[in-house]
Amino acid sequence: MPNQPVEVAPLDPKDDAQWAGYHRVTVDAQLHERPYGDVPTADAFRVSFVRASQSSRTLGWTARLDGAVVGAAMAVFPMADNTHLAFTEVNVTPSARRQGVGRALLAGLDDGLRAAGRHTDLAEVPRPYAADVAGRPVAAGVGFARASGYELAQTEVHFVLQSPLDLDLLDSLQAEVDAQIGDYRIVSWQDRCPDEWVEQACALEEAFIAQAPMGDMDLEPERWSEHRLREKEEVRLSRGQHGLTSVAVAPDGSLAGNTELVLSDATMRGGVFQSGTLVLPSHRGHRLGLALKLANHRQLQAVEPAPRLVHTYSAEENTPMIAVNTRLGFRPVELSDEWQRRTASG
Ligand SMILES: CC(C)(COP(=O)(O)OP(=O)(O)OC[C@H]1O[C@@H](n2cnc3c(N)ncnc32)[C@H](O)[C@@H]1OP(=O)(O)O)[C@@H](O)C(=O)NCCC(=O)NCCS
Repeated sequence: MPNQPVEVAPLDPKDDAQWAGYHRVTVDAQLHERPYGDVPTADAFRVSFVRASQSSRTLGWTARLDGAVVGAAMAVFPMADNTHLAFTEVNVTPSARRQGVGRALLAGLDDGLRAAGRHTDLAEVPRPYAADVAGRPVAAGVGFARASGYELAQTEVHFVLQSPLDLDLLDSLQAEVDAQIGDYRIVSWQDRCPDEWVEQACALEEAFIAQAPMGDMDLEPERWSEHRLREKEEVRLSRGQHGLTSVAVAPDGSLAGNTELVLSDATMRGGVFQSGTLVLPSHRGHRLGLALKLANHRQLQAVEPAPRLVHTYSAEENTPMIAVNTRLGFRPVELSDEWQRRTASG
């Protein structure tokens, strides 16, 4: 192939042709050699780029070789907290790799980070679960991250579980939960947090980063308000996603923990995604982690009885969460590293 210069330009997500090329490259790169990878559909993904939001802003860049879009980069800027950082992703279509496209996109990304005053770049990079087996090549993203000045900040394990779960398993786990949950109770809802729980749901969101293992990631606690919670719910619905939530209510009426699944037809492979699960420290030891997840899986299979693959990510050192996931039948399929870098603006 002749050595063409790589052209990097900011993405206009409202331009249909640009958007189609951008999404195609993202899908090709993210699903390549990843049987358990999944990516939002074009319409659902576009919402993040075009919808105004007070809590985050998303920008994209495309890279072209000989006029064809072969690279796509994105940066998500938190706006309500963590304004020193950006969550980024660089994707290059498999047939165009090792020609400097990734490096050129990173230069474009750096200009964007500098303009937004962000000095920390956090990038999530998948690699095979058996990557350390002798003789296997290093995953492309890992080689790229190392060569580009990133440092490893945390490793998460990507687990999957086929829903619906076997009813006998659910019943036997439920019996175990019922024997230990005491006067706690589990409440579940879909899409919209009932008004009575909003304040405490925000407090749990804020507690999450302080409580969940975050490795060496340079993350500050998040700031949540009713407005932010309602915005998150609205954005999800506008992407065709449903939030399934279960919370644990303590005997004194306060919220002791929560868990959430995101169900949609808005991903390329139909995945259901777990978002945070938290039990506050003073409420641990009552099987609430298992109780929450059990209730939420029951809710999932009531709403969606058809087979679905459920995905969850847990920090490899998060033994209690992994133990709960394993009891439900989750199995590890992939690793996902958080790589971190200080950009030139820092
Ligand atoms: C990671 C990715 C973006 C690299 O794109 P690319 O266009 O091939 O990257 P470049 O050609 O600019 O490579 C820059 C340097 O990264 C390193 N690198 C890239 N791919 C590598 C691989 N497969 N193995 C080892 N090192 C690699 C090399 O040092 C390379 O320089 P060199 O080719 O002169 O040796 C691409 O493989 C991809 O889309 N992967 C899936 C998504 C992903 O993991 N993104 C993570 C970004 S942090």
